[in-house]
Amino acid sequence: MNNVGFDLWADDYDKSVGLSDEEGVYPFAGYRDVLNKIYAGVLSHFGKVVLDIGFGTGTLTSKLYENGCEIYGQDFSDRMIELAYEKMPKAHLFQGDFSVGLADELTQNKYDSITATYSLHHLTDVQKIDLLHLLLSLLKDDGCIYIGDVGFTTRKDMEDCKIQMGNKWDDDEIYFIFDEVKITFPQIEFEQLSYCAGVFYLKNQ
Ligand SMILES: C[S@@+](CC[C@H](N)C(=O)[O-])C[C@H]1O[C@@H](n2cnc3c(N)ncnc32)[C@H](O)[C@@H]1O
Repeated sequence: MNNVGFDLWADDYDKSVGLSDEEGVYPFAGYRDVLNKIYAGVLSHFGKVVLDIGFGTGTLTSKLYENGCEIYGQDFSDRMIELAYEKMPKAHLFQGDFSVGLADELTQNKYDSITATYSLHHLTDVQKIDLLHLLLSLLKDDGCIYIGDVGFTTRKDMEDCKIQMGNKWDDDEIYFIFDEVKITFPQIEFEQLSYCAGVFYLKNQ
């Protein structure tokens, strides 16, 4: 989906994702657990400078903002940015396509935590790896990147889920597979939180 598609989805986004999670429906089954896990991880860190990649309506980051975090972010949907600013007027939010990089203002900082929830599956695997290398370079020494998304331990797990989902499966989305990301980032960790989603934790060492 492009930025116009996300603009159209923006006003209905929180409701439709909430419903999908409550009903345990792919792709948002486990959404709340994924966000809660990341929320707790970010707040347990003594540093509170957070970068959110594809923040959407600010569901996660607005809660972090309310708890004293300084929020930076990039998203390519103007409408998502407007809705996020309503919740976080003092956040530093930038418009731009992260498949081609990050705003200069964002690459000049270092972050305690970097979050990306349900946003990176729009990238190819090569684009994901390039972006993760860039994000690692923007992380403070003891910082952590949290990726919450549809994700699986093995490709077989994903194929099994795809068969179960039938025509609900979205072939346009490219999900993280732990065993395969580990080849490039051996230090990455994965916690499966629903049959189709979980949190990836990536640090510099
Ligand atoms: C499914 S929403 C997730 C929003 C939020 N992180 C959440 O967990 O609810 C994906 C978000 O990523 C943004 N996005 C997707 N691809 C993008 C890209 N290439 N560059 C910038 N933003 C992108 C969309 O505009 C949208 O706000």
